[in-house]
Amino acid sequence: MTQPVDAHAGALALLSNEAIANLHKETHLARGLPNAAFTSDEFLNLENDLLFPRTWMYCGRASAVVNAGDILPVRVAGRPLILMRGSDGELRVFHNVCLHRGALLVDQAQQGKAVLTCPYHQWSYGLDGNLRGRPHFDGHGKHDSAGSDANESVCLFGVATGMWHDWVFVNLDGRAQPFEDFIAPANEAYRDWDLSQFRFARHESFAFRCNWKLALENFIDAYHVFAVHPALDEAYVEETRSTATPGGPHAFTINELAGPGRGLTIDPDGPDLPTLKGLRQDLGSCQPSCNLVPNITMVISPGNLQFVTFEPDGPEQCTMNMSFYFVADAAEEAEHEEARQLVYAEWASLNVEDEDVCRRMQEGRACDAYDGGRLSPYWDLATIHFHRQIADILLDC
Ligand code: FES
Ligand SMILES: [Fe+2]
Repeated sequence: MTQPVDAHAGALALLSNEAIANLHKETHLARGLPNAAFTSDEFLNLENDLLFPRTWMYCGRASAVVNAGDILPVRVAGRPLILMRGSDGELRVFHNVCLHRGALLVDQAQQGKAVLTCPYHQWSYGLDGNLRGRPHFDGHGKHDSAGSDANESVCLFGVATGMWHDWVFVNLDGRAQPFEDFIAPANEAYRDWDLSQFRFARHESFAFRCNWKLALENFIDAYHVFAVHPALDEAYVEETRSTATPGGPHAFTINELAGPGRGLTIDPDGPDLPTLKGLRQDLGSCQPSCNLVPNITMVISPGNLQFVTFEPDGPEQCTMNMSFYFVADAAEEAEHEEARQLVYAEWASLNVEDEDVCRRMQEGRACDAYDGGRLSPYWDLATIHFHRQIADILLDC
């Protein structure tokens, strides 16, 4: 699937010296990535081959593979992977491909498995990825058990893996910075928030008619809230609203909520949700959010959290995957069902409002005169920082 770098010469040419110089000007003078970065198959191929494999990418929830023998197939940038929880409690990630003829091993989540058996010729693997057996390997009835025929250890192709709370990350090319360094700015930004209290409740997907980067940029664009989400706008202390600021390759911001509530549209008469225990009082009305490069955003409200990824479905379409978390038992308890439903409904309506402006940005990318934009020095810092990170990773600098 991956093309040699030469095959990307046309797309890489979009990142000319002039384009990079424009990205790095002061925000009000800078120009964002060119239109083709949001419209062309070539640039998306470049991202699939060089951007996503070089970085740490979210691949799944640890809480989806809690018990030994749990197996979860996922895809990251089109590559099939499996998350497996071993009998030793370790969560490992492998390429979801049999070593023999390259058949996909698993296409549905499984529980309680002791071994993984390829459906094609029934080679079997332990949950640690090591080969267990190859039936009829040396002829009919002449079976091979693991390691009997060679000195090499035979193991599924492993993937570099990092864990951050419930979120499992992979680095496909194995050459990214250490995961601890990648996630350090997030640990610093959230040192006062005990994210371990959050439990997964629900996953929802939303289709956006735009390039994945535009949907993500909209998510970290605090500017549009007054215009596109007037109800949400009232939930904030207006003077505290600002753009996210860089933290390493990522970007972080904190908004202040105007009053108690679930964290979105404030309804003082709405049902309660438990909030984080032990959170410093002065942070009780704060709502931090971030972009983790490349394709993650996250919002933490006092009683809920949204972990969001944006996946391309083509150059001009993407899916927003939103996982909802609530504090401890509030993720499941019936007494909080109404409050959870309100949070889901609020995000669904926000996403409808956002999808329309994202679609407009996408359609605007067909304008030849548009050259990356005239940006606000106050609001667009996070957007231009994001563009710079994309270019840096693609140029391997
Ligand atoms: S392809 Fe898996 S056993 Fe042959
Ligand atoms: Fe929005």
